[in-house]
Amino acid sequence: EQCQAVAREVLAAHRDRPGALLPVLHDIQDRLGAVPPELLPMIAEDLSLSRAEVHGVVSFYHDFRATPPGRQVLKLCQAEACRSMGVKALTAELEEKLGLALGETHEDGSLSFEPVYCLGNCACAPNAMLNGEVHGRVDAEELLALLAEQEA
Ligand code: FES
Repeated sequence: EQCQAVAREVLAAHRDRPGALLPVLHDIQDRLGAVPPELLPMIAEDLSLSRAEVHGVVSFYHDFRATPPGRQVLKLCQAEACRSMGVKALTAELEEKLGLALGETHEDGSLSFEPVYCLGNCACAPNAMLNGEVHGRVDAEELLALLAEQEA
């Protein structure tokens, strides 16, 4: 299968270096858009690590994802400052309006809606990041408008 072939290539390129695990995971994600969980046993075996070690690293770094992202990615900050500015209610409102639960990608691949923990812009809470760009003091209306604009 294609994913396995990519993983084999990436492993072959890195396996002789110490600390190969992170570069391997990053390269796989660059090429596949995700680190599919079914590849983890193969990576562990190839690098002589335990599955638990590999799994631990993948879940520790929030950058790694199990499935490829949607064409647009909306992240909503769930950390302290944004929480105190009502991000819980905003999250619920967006989940309803987008028809998408936080942490999920739309079936048609159009959008991923994800939590993020502090965007370093706490003074302007609540904060969102749309396709890599931070937007402060957001509300649902503004975010939906931005989404529609970028989709066009
Ligand atoms: Fe949301 Fe810092 S807590 S940007």
